[in-house]
Amino acid sequence: MTATEPVDLTVADLHPALGDPALTSMNFLNEVSERYPAAVSLAAGRPYEEFFDLAAVHRHLDTFHKHLTDDLGHSPEQARRLLLQYGRTKGIVHQLIARNLAVDEGITVDPEAVVVTVGCQEAMFLVLRALRAGPEDVLLAVAPTYVGLTGAARLVDLPVWPVAGGPSGVDVADLSVQVRRARAAGLRPRACYVMPDFANPSGVSISAEDRRRLLTLAAEEDLLLLEDNPYGLFHSADGPRPPTLKALDTGRRVVYLGSFAKTVLPGARVGYVVADQRVAGPDGRVGPLADQLAMIKSMVTVNTSPIAQAVIGGRLLENGCSLVAANIRERSAYTRNLRHLVTGLRRRFPGRAAVRWTVPAGGFFVVVTVPFPVDDALLDRSARDYGVLWTPMAHFYDDTAPVCALRLSVSAVTPQQIDVGLDRLTALITDEVARRAG
Ligand SMILES: Cc1ncc(COP(=O)(O)O)c(C=O)c1O
Repeated sequence: MTATEPVDLTVADLHPALGDPALTSMNFLNEVSERYPAAVSLAAGRPYEEFFDLAAVHRHLDTFHKHLTDDLGHSPEQARRLLLQYGRTKGIVHQLIARNLAVDEGITVDPEAVVVTVGCQEAMFLVLRALRAGPEDVLLAVAPTYVGLTGAARLVDLPVWPVAGGPSGVDVADLSVQVRRARAAGLRPRACYVMPDFANPSGVSISAEDRRRLLTLAAEEDLLLLEDNPYGLFHSADGPRPPTLKALDTGRRVVYLGSFAKTVLPGARVGYVVADQRVAGPDGRVGPLADQLAMIKSMVTVNTSPIAQAVIGGRLLENGCSLVAANIRERSAYTRNLRHLVTGLRRRFPGRAAVRWTVPAGGFFVVVTVPFPVDDALLDRSARDYGVLWTPMAHFYDDTAPVCALRLSVSAVTPQQIDVGLDRLTALITDEVARRAG
């Protein structure tokens, strides 16, 4: 549409979030990559597409159907109804998710505390919608943070109050300071959003010691922790990784957000939330927070597609409910790519202190710090003139201060593409430094 055609509404007449950078960020980044299809993308945090297999999707569906009839004793009519009819709001693969969490994470959950959602994104929305009870409520979040979280918070009118992340993933002392500061300002911090494993965008993981300190602080300050864990299985080291917050949570302080986008298929759009906090209703009856989230879900997406859930369920069943077992090939490819990227950066920027980068122990993302502000205009120039895409880190901060860093992702590329992308990025950085110097 052109600007000269008559308009019926303006964005200013709609929900204020619609004009907010947190909501426009993902579209902007997609548009840039569509405009420059020939550019190598070190921007997309999507899983590697060569592993997608349509035949396997049919098999997973059949496996889950067989599970319904053979293991659970459903009649053919019941099984057909369960897969094809409207269904249980909290989902139909909750038992399998609970088993998966026990097998892979050592987390014990009551399946009734699980709500299967349309991606982790819906899970975040449901939790934030439920927690935002009044205008005094705020959400604490480690900065930089995932833009999908900030956007969802905007949509439910919940301000996001930043907490320092730093090199250790979360500055627990700063969290304590920010809780008090928010309270002193008459606000009510409801929860703190954290990604303890290979965070998006920083790539950083929180140490086992800081995880325990976080839980202690959450109990002292009567705060919930929202633990988002889409990348935890993709650790590079051979040894075990630290336990999740939920595995350490003995006081129902942690609401755990899960996604099958990276470990099974993003196109299935299936995620979940574990919300075992005990909620008293007006009639005195007590039930898990999951029940309240399901009430919201019933008014947003009704239920998560049972066909999509069956695909996830089948994949779980075929792997003894272990996504660690199901992702051996994926984990090794992402680990190889991450090492290749870090080695490639080291080779291209030897001894140049002005260009630094994180060295994550897993996940998809590396953050490169450069000696100049990185903005959307530079990304556009990078795509057009140098043929390489990345994500400006400014997109992950909830303010407009300039940020001298960019995020690289290794998930959707080959080592050869990483080499080409890094050569192009090096040329951009070198030219930009020279341009600014002279
Ligand atoms: C940290 C984080 N949380 C949540 C999501 C959304 O997951 P889903 O695709 O399951 O909605 C993503 C997707 O990239 C993510 O990086």
